Amino acid sequence: MSDNSKGKATSRRQFLSGAAAVGVGAVGSGAARAASPDPLITQVQEWAQATGEGVDATPYGLPIQFEKDVVRRNVEWLTADTISSINFTPIHALDGTITPQGCAFERHHSGAIELSKPDYRLMINGLVDTPLVFTYEDLERFPRENRVYFCECAANTGMEWAGAQLNGAQFTHGMIHNMEYSGVPLRTLLEEAGVKPAGKWIYVEGADASSNGRSIPLEKAMDDVLVAFKANGEALRKEHGYPVRLVVPGWEGNMWVKWLRRVEVTEMAIESREETSKYTDTLEDGTSRKWSWVMDAKSVVTSPSPQAPITHGPGPLVITGLAWSGRGSITGVDVSVDGGKNWVPARLAAPGTDKALTRFYLDYNWDGSEMLLQARAKDSSGYVQPTKAQLRDVRGENSIYHNNCIQTWWIKESGEAENVEVS
Ligand code: MTE
Repeated sequence: MSDNSKGKATSRRQFLSGAAAVGVGAVGSGAARAASPDPLITQVQEWAQATGEGVDATPYGLPIQFEKDVVRRNVEWLTADTISSINFTPIHALDGTITPQGCAFERHHSGAIELSKPDYRLMINGLVDTPLVFTYEDLERFPRENRVYFCECAANTGMEWAGAQLNGAQFTHGMIHNMEYSGVPLRTLLEEAGVKPAGKWIYVEGADASSNGRSIPLEKAMDDVLVAFKANGEALRKEHGYPVRLVVPGWEGNMWVKWLRRVEVTEMAIESREETSKYTDTLEDGTSRKWSWVMDAKSVVTSPSPQAPITHGPGPLVITGLAWSGRGSITGVDVSVDGGKNWVPARLAAPGTDKALTRFYLDYNWDGSEMLLQARAKDSSGYVQPTKAQLRDVRGENSIYHNNCIQTWWIKESGEAENVEVS
């Protein structure tokens, strides 16, 4: 948390005078209930009458049973099977910005493989002075960095182009995760091999059957790409590329090659191989945008939302969500409760950081009436997240990938929420 809590009294007063038009008001007060004889307070409960589990009951901890619904989910009709498929992060139920690996979305083209550290090899070849092979242990001996980045599949929100379709932030925006990666800059390894002047691209591939081969400009490879072997402090999970994956900050998830086995330095982008360059954005006139790698600024209200309805009456309501940009950091998020007619600035939980998720809050005094809830992100490049209509004007409705438009939730008087479009 930043020190936004300081000077609360002053900012609260400013809030009340400045934001009355959209009902932003008393922050938090009124959420507690008056003390009354509640058995949960006055009686000794079952869990206090016996001892609990000892320290070794769960050597590797799992979430408590009451949180069993906070899991990744897939949409069965989207893909023919679960091998070449995707599931979604339960962003509606998470807070903060770091995604636990256990519920971070997975996307495999040929399933998640098991590759041990002793069997792991990474080769760098092509236009280099000395082709090299690294073992896992070799990688651990290079100077290491820790960095937090989001990974968003280019298809995130892809089903929403033609109209509001999936009823939940998990399904509309959950092809994203945000982790702290530990690894070696790819630049360090490429410099070890010595890139020849003719080398302008790298072709990266994984050890799985699909290989997920992708071409990446050398400029990006030498900039901020990481060869990562830890996420959130622990080994990568099998489904996220154990033991080593590529982290390509701000760029679409399909370039983040898992089970990384080879980096070939090439003169040109390799497009001839069957598995390469499949991600394009088809426009209204039938032509396609190619190599739209960067993920533009985007945001979504995670709560309230269809899977996280309001379960209490009018009064204090924490509106919260996530914002991110592949072009830099989030500088601000605005929230609208009336479908984009009026906007108020949300509070960023911490200043936005480069190519990572930013958490925002709007401490709102809900009067119990329905809302058309939206969030709009701004990033350090000056870019402002577009409306759906603005995006369609430029891109039409034939695309699947790179849909970063403003999302609308219709919050009903009952507190339930629905995915809708506003004109
Ligand atoms: N790497 C390999 N080797 N095989 C794959 O199928 N899927 C890609 C990418 N890297 C893939 C891969 C795609 S399309 C995405 S969106 C991300 O991995 C998803 O990473 P995750 O499964 O850790 O969420």
